[in-house]
Amino acid sequence: MSSTQDNRFQAIIAHAKEYGFVFPSSEIYDGLSAVYDYGPYGSELKKNIRDYWWKSMTQLRENIVGIDAAIFMHPTTWKASGHVDNFNDPMIDNKDSKKRYRVDHLIEGFADKLKAEGNDKEANDLLAEMESLLEKEDYASLKKLIDDHKIVCSISETCNWTDIRQFNLMFSTQIGSVAGEAETIYLRPETAQGIFVNFLNVQKTSRMKIPFGIAQTGKAFRNEIVARQFIFRMREFEQMEMQFFIRPGTQKEWYEYWKEERMKWHLSLGISQEKYQFHNHTKLAHYADAALDIEYEFPIGFKEVEGIHSRTDYDLTQHQKYSNKKLTYFDTEINQHYIPYVIETSIGLDRMFLLILSHSYNEETITKEDGTKDSRIVLNIPEKLAPVKLAVLPLIKKDGLPEIARILINECKPHFKCFYEEKDTIGKRYRRQDAIGTPYCVTIDHQTKENNTVTIRYRDTMKQERISISEINNKLKASVIL
Ligand code: GAP
Repeated sequence: MSSTQDNRFQAIIAHAKEYGFVFPSSEIYDGLSAVYDYGPYGSELKKNIRDYWWKSMTQLRENIVGIDAAIFMHPTTWKASGHVDNFNDPMIDNKDSKKRYRVDHLIEGFADKLKAEGNDKEANDLLAEMESLLEKEDYASLKKLIDDHKIVCSISETCNWTDIRQFNLMFSTQIGSVAGEAETIYLRPETAQGIFVNFLNVQKTSRMKIPFGIAQTGKAFRNEIVARQFIFRMREFEQMEMQFFIRPGTQKEWYEYWKEERMKWHLSLGISQEKYQFHNHTKLAHYADAALDIEYEFPIGFKEVEGIHSRTDYDLTQHQKYSNKKLTYFDTEINQHYIPYVIETSIGLDRMFLLILSHSYNEETITKEDGTKDSRIVLNIPEKLAPVKLAVLPLIKKDGLPEIARILINECKPHFKCFYEEKDTIGKRYRRQDAIGTPYCVTIDHQTKENNTVTIRYRDTMKQERISISEINNKLKASVIL
């Protein structure tokens, strides 16, 4: 990461805290590593992103329905899904600092440094070798790669490494109160399994026919070892996942379909195509026969925001085997029973939140009418996702102007989130709304009393125009509602 990129990333983190978007969890106790809380504007933005995804998946598609499964699941779920045995990451510890690293992240961090120094070829060769060794699970050679390149720990700055070992990423806890009878259960590391175990419940009760999908949003937990980069990699995070059940043999076409559909969803927010790329996986997860990431260019570089996975019939077959319950579907069109194949789309809500902040955060220099320069920080959040859609600002606190403002707010607030403010100069109030990404500000002044017009000010262009107060509600409803 260059220092400009790093500065931008740090500025976004500071801004998110200062304006009530994201706080470190339990901050008064010095925080908890890789766990964050969302503040008043953050929780609105997060909810709007979740709703935008949910609407696109369930409301606008007749062949996808939603569920809300529990975080706790029967422990056999995770044996069947392969997570108990396979949800491991190769880790390495630095003997001096005792800090533990995920091997791929340690090497990728070193490759980033090489690239920043202009050694792109060396970095790419190193990454290619790493991927091939990871695929072969050849940990002795991976350790040698780290030693040969003299990759150091960021804390101790030494190369004194342990051997590479595998660590499971699932958090466990106990269920049941009687000592000795308590059973170990896991906090789900993905929401997908809640969908798989409910496959027949949903299919039968909703009378769905293949191809159809089940969507879900909810918390997932992973004991991430390298937990830094703000909300990019968290230990408690939220996923928005959809499993699309299909006829065996059709997985290639549906994989392509969902790859395109998901990219269209991202672009529908008005974010430029150049900021996105696809990254095909070479090392596949234990359940997949094809997989790719949709990557976004964060200030920390191109990184995964969403995964599209062709999960075959792996999960349903495993659950059928471990539960001894039939999970086949009868396809009346071809008169056959089969276990459906699955294409999964899986996006991290927190990562999408970081994407929106990264896309929106802008430090601008403005030339004023008199030629002098000024600056502002603005969040150009897509209007539909903005935490507050309309700020209503009486020019002064008297002469009946606050009362007119209140009437407007009361008319608009059942439809979208509004904000009222009467303190400080109008200029300062505009700046505060820019900083939280409010797309529209309306100022009530003395002219409003004479002819029922107000000044509407647009966040992105800072242009102002006079319009009738009666137009505001409908004008905004047309553009800010999801
Ligand atoms: N069900 C498939 C699955 O969980 P994944 O690629 O491990 O696949 C899907 O995760 C998405 O969840 C990722 O693309 C990312 O956006 C998000 N995600 C995964 N781990 C995360 C973490 N530790 N913190 C924040 N988001 C995470």
